[in-house]
Amino acid sequence: MNKPHGGFLINRVDTNYKIDEKNIMVQLDTTALSDLELIATGAYSPLTGFMDKKNYQSVVQKMRLDNKLPWSIPITLPVDQDKAGLINLGSTVNLVHENVIYGVMTVQEKFVPDKKEEAKQVYQTTYSSHPGVKKLYERPDINLGGPITLIKFPQKENFQEYYLEPKQTRESFQRLGWKTIVGFQTRNPVHRAHEYIQKSALETVDGLLLHPLVGETKKGDIPSELRMECYQTLLENYYPKNRVFLSVFPAAMRYAGPREAIFHALVRKNYGCTHFIVGRDHAGVGDYYGTYDAQKIFRHFSEEEIGIEILCFENSFYCLKCESMGTAKTCPHDKTDHISLSGTKVRAMLREGKIPPKQFSRPEVAKKLSEGMSKILVETGQ
Ligand code: ADX
Repeated sequence: MNKPHGGFLINRVDTNYKIDEKNIMVQLDTTALSDLELIATGAYSPLTGFMDKKNYQSVVQKMRLDNKLPWSIPITLPVDQDKAGLINLGSTVNLVHENVIYGVMTVQEKFVPDKKEEAKQVYQTTYSSHPGVKKLYERPDINLGGPITLIKFPQKENFQEYYLEPKQTRESFQRLGWKTIVGFQTRNPVHRAHEYIQKSALETVDGLLLHPLVGETKKGDIPSELRMECYQTLLENYYPKNRVFLSVFPAAMRYAGPREAIFHALVRKNYGCTHFIVGRDHAGVGDYYGTYDAQKIFRHFSEEEIGIEILCFENSFYCLKCESMGTAKTCPHDKTDHISLSGTKVRAMLREGKIPPKQFSRPEVAKKLSEGMSKILVETGQ
């Protein structure tokens, strides 16, 4: 099986840990809470905690940890100045979200991040119209660095059985006898371009880890419950049962395009994947990134240091003349014969009350999606 990033899976879970209620309480936002869990379960191996200044700066500037291992997204714990002033270096703080203590951290460092520089390097823009940059600017101004321990797993409200830790997905792949596994990241409702690139990849490997991101996403993205229902429907109707493994990735979406593609790949390596799909505008938003920037960025690293094979796919569309899916690599016809698919287009159609056509989404999925969206629009009064 593919080795985790850095050689072994980190495990920083201790549910028997004796909490000291007298420790200073540090509030986690939703992103930090999901990061805490993902560090602890080894999804972010080799990280053992929130980044100190050396690692943070190295990641921002060089896309590498201080020990030179590739890593592209800063994993930070920001607190406000007043809170930071109360914390002594070397002390243990309790990590709290909505009045529940989920973990502890030994604070080894406090530092002020250069947010403009982080925005420029990681998101390639300093504009707060970018949802990732907006979030970065809104978070408090001092970062705490140090190792963490997860004491309590965050409550899962939906599809609990799909939350598997890296060691569990690895065990499952072993049980299934899969030696080569392709990971698929997604935050959008599944459409036929997704299916096409997944199945193209699946022709050459043993199994597919379908790994929708279910952590925090931006306003306007389709809720994870509905996306999961669509996946279940698609799998029931169109995929061989013994070749696909559906599980969820509880991280927050950063919308960092190319940088996030590297992060997504390394994390899926930790979950046991040997291959990872990067299609058009992976983890992109608006037009901040070039269509294939998220594929090109991998050229900065050797295959050995990434340690998971990147399968790149061109923009996939439905061709009315071929009567099938394809890309410019496989279809000779004119653009006017092509129906291009993207999550943004599906979302726009649904919001207008339109059912995506069968070239766009499988009919069973389109039905689920439009019913789900009508319900959401009624509930939210939109
Ligand atoms: S993402 O933010 O998670 O990347 P999305 O769920 O839309 O968004 O995409 C999941 C994966 O499918 C990404 O690797 C993306 O590049 C790829 N993808 C989405 N649409 C297409 C398409 N039409 N052609 C090729 N690849 C695509």
